[in-house]
Parts: sequence; C-alpha cells; structure tokens
Amino acid sequence: MDFIAHRVDCVLEATGMDAVDALRTFYVLAAATTLSVSIPGSLRSRFLVYGPRATSTGFGSPSQPSVTSGLLDYLATWRVPHSYFAQFYIASVLSSAFWALQLFSRGSVFQAIASRLSLEHQQQSMSLNQTLVCWILLAMQGARRLWESLTFSKPSSSQMWFVHWLLGIGFYLATGVAIWIEGSGTLLTEDLTLEHVQMTNAPKLRTFLCVPLFLIASGLQHDCHHYLFSLKKYTVPDHPMFRGVVCPHYGAECVIYLSLALVAAPPGQIVNKTLLACFVFVAVNLGLTARTTRQWYTEKFGKDAVQGWWLMIPGIY
Ligand SMILES: NC(=O)c1ccc[n+]([C@@H]2O[C@H](COP(=O)([O-])OP(=O)(O)OC[C@H]3O[C@@H](n4cnc5c(N)ncnc54)[C@H](OP(=O)(O)O)[C@@H]3O)[C@@H](O)[C@H]2O)c1
Repeated sequence: MDFIAHRVDCVLEATGMDAVDALRTFYVLAAATTLSVSIPGSLRSRFLVYGPRATSTGFGSPSQPSVTSGLLDYLATWRVPHSYFAQFYIASVLSSAFWALQLFSRGSVFQAIASRLSLEHQQQSMSLNQTLVCWILLAMQGARRLWESLTFSKPSSSQMWFVHWLLGIGFYLATGVAIWIEGSGTLLTEDLTLEHVQMTNAPKLRTFLCVPLFLIASGLQHDCHHYLFSLKKYTVPDHPMFRGVVCPHYGAECVIYLSLALVAAPPGQIVNKTLLACFVFVAVNLGLTARTTRQWYTEKFGKDAVQGWWLMIPGIY
C-alpha cells in the first residue's frame, strides 16, 4: 500500500496542484478533449462514436484517402467490444471498496491525497455523515450498473475506441476519490466509524430532496436499460420513458451526478465543485453521444423517426 501511496504522492507533486484542483482539472480537460474531438467530423466518426451508432457514420470510408486519413483509420481500428462497459463498473465497485477501507483506517493512500490539500479546501469540509451518504450513493450506482451490465447483456458486435475505454476507467477511478475528497479536512481530524451510518439528526433539506432525486433517477435509468435489453434488434424505442426523448437513460445519468454534487456540497456552498466538474464531463460526453444517436436513428429509420425529440431530458435538452 505504501508503494501506491508513494506513486500517488509523486503524481500529485508532478502536477504542482492541490489534489482537489488536480481532480477538477482532470474532469474539465477530459470534457474539453471530448468536445474538441467531436467537432471535426473526421475525428468524431472514427474516435467518438461507439455502440450501435458506430455502424452508420461512414467510419473507415474517407472521401479523399491520404496518409493522414490512412493513419487515422488505422488508429480507429484499435477498438474493444461495447460490452467492456462492465469493466467500468468493476473498477467503480472495487474503488468504492478500496476507499471505504482507506477512509475507515486512515490508510496511507488516503493520507497521501488528503495531505496534498490546501488549507482552504481542508477547512471547508463536508461532514462525516455527508461523506458517508455520498460514498453509499456512489457505491449503489456502481453496484447497480455492474449488476445490469452482467444481467442485461445480449450478443452484440458493437464496439468503442480503446481510448474511450481507458477514459472510462479513468473516470470511474477519479470519481471514487471525488466523492470524499472535499471531506478530507474532517476525515483527517475525526474518526470515521460505523456509528456515522446511523442518522441521528434530521437530514438537511438538500439531502432530503436530492437523495430521493438520485433514487428516482436510478430507478428510471434501470427501467430504460431493461427495456433496451428486451429489444431483439435495433429499433426506435417505444417505451413511455423514450416518448419524445432519444436517450432518457443518459438524462437520468446526468441527474444522478448532479444530485450527488448537491448532496456533497461543503458547508456554506451550494454545490460540491469537484462533483460539479464530474457532472460537466458526464453531461458533455452523454450530450454528444445523444446527438449522434439522434442522427443514427434518422439515418437508419428515416427523418421522421425522432424528429422534434429531446436529446436527454424533456423540456430541457
Ligand atoms: N458516466 C458516464 O460518463 C457515462 C458514459 C457513457 C455511458 N454511461 C451510462 O451507461 C449506460 C449505458 O450507456 P451506453 O452508451 O452503452 O448506452 P447505449 O449505447 O444506449 O446502449 C445500451 C444497450 O442498449 C442497446 N441499444 C441501444 N440502442 C438500442 C436500440 N435503438 N435498439 C436496440 N438496442 C439498443 C445497446 O446495444 P449494443 O450492445 O449492440 O450497442 C446496448 O446493449 C447509460 O445509462 C449511460 O448513461 C455513462
């Protein structure tokens, strides 16, 4: 464990940043990179589009073959099955378990990260109850998605670019830290025990509102995944959740991360900015994917198939 702690310390030192800032920067850079790759059609079709959508984007058929397009085509062949999504959730569940052990024992990897926080970030710290609630919610999300990935899997030839897969693993490992990092100040000075699982005081209004929001969004997303799994072939979804919305499961994911960012707000703040950066990455990534999904439905099933449909959340986007 000391080896991991040492490596983490070296990486944080190399960034020259406070650990909270380094994590926020990771999410913002990841969102900016995804956005940049989405702008030129030649990059978007080769590297960004994944899953069912990757079948009708003209990938691998550039209009004017050149050395550059040949190289891009070659790089774009480094793909892994879409079903590798399950590995994201294995990483998420393992990371939740790892950080639970670290936080309860104030382990060396936790210390390596927490000691690299500025005084300001240490002083504006989430409470232990708050940190624990957020950890439980993220662990539930990872476990549900892992269970769905295993039970709702169906034969498919759809794929994603390997960098997409790497970024996904990085995202879930980073989020395992993001969920508690703004509680470091309290975790360094007070012992986290199982007694903190018991809620003796009435929850704050934001917890009272946002935890049910998280649970409702999780339930709706589960219904969407079950419905998509039940489809025998690619088709325009005809489920109440999909009525007029191309990707309601992506919308639900955005609500899940936004509610986490609100539940985890440190005292005196409206939102947890690290988890807000995480939400921004999720919203950018899924917004772009929902856009290509709408385009895919239009190409495959005709221009009226999803005309006027919202991308992720009815009435909002
Ligand atoms: N946190 C994040 O940054 C992040 C990023 C990406 C995804 N996610 C979440 O992970 C979940 C899954 O995402 P995804 O991008 O893999 O979803 P997806 O592309 O919609 O695919 C989900 C499953 O449904 C199938 N499917 C999709 N559209 C279909 C259609 N029209 N007809 C029949 N089957 C269809 C897919 O088949 P194939 O297997 O053949 O493709 C796949 O098995 C989502 O809820 C999403 O919010 C989160």
